[in-house]
Amino acid sequence: MNSKPLIVYFSLKGETYHHSRLSYQNYGNTEVLALFIEKITSGDLFALKAKIPYSEKYNEILERAIDEKKRYLSVSFHKYLSSLDQYQDIYLGFPNWFGTFPNIVATFLATYDFTSKTIHPFITHEGGYLGQIEDDLKKYLPNATIKKPFCAYGFEVRKKALAIKRWVLENE
Ligand SMILES: Cc1cc2nc3c(=O)[nH]c(=O)nc-3n(C[C@H](O)[C@H](O)[C@H](O)COP(=O)(O)O)c2cc1C
Repeated sequence: MNSKPLIVYFSLKGETYHHSRLSYQNYGNTEVLALFIEKITSGDLFALKAKIPYSEKYNEILERAIDEKKRYLSVSFHKYLSSLDQYQDIYLGFPNWFGTFPNIVATFLATYDFTSKTIHPFITHEGGYLGQIEDDLKKYLPNATIKKPFCAYGFEVRKKALAIKRWVLENE
């Protein structure tokens, strides 16, 4: 067993929506938090990337996400990890999509064995905070321990370096 944690995240660069305006960013909001956590913990970083990449256009992302949700679609991702055996602590980051996790995260959770793992969720949102994410994580991961999530507005992530450090240290 590795004492290093794994930091898994799903995050989209490209257009993001805030205060009724679209702007372009080279890093996804959740990705910024993932990179802070990598620095703090020296963990292994694993970016969840869909095999069919998401558009960088907000409206196209929205359309695809709605379709995935409506039809309960799995979203295939590039699989660099054969198992989670070497990890105990897993930081799991994603944006709030429609009050819960994106379907690609659900696919990831259904792919690996999380028995006895400790999950540290970190979430970005645009006003919906955690929605039903904690309940849904418990449903998907009944055999894992789910720690207190870190939650931030997407547009504020760059100001969260200290807050996330505190959260990491408090929940070790
Ligand atoms: C398809 C889609 C659905 C979203 N649904 C919600 C939502 O229900 N509640 C909310 O607060 N934010 C919602 N958002 C906003 C994202 O959670 C927010 O912009 C997040 O920081 C994006 O993270 P990322 O840049 O790491 O992908 C949604 C964004 C998208 C693209």
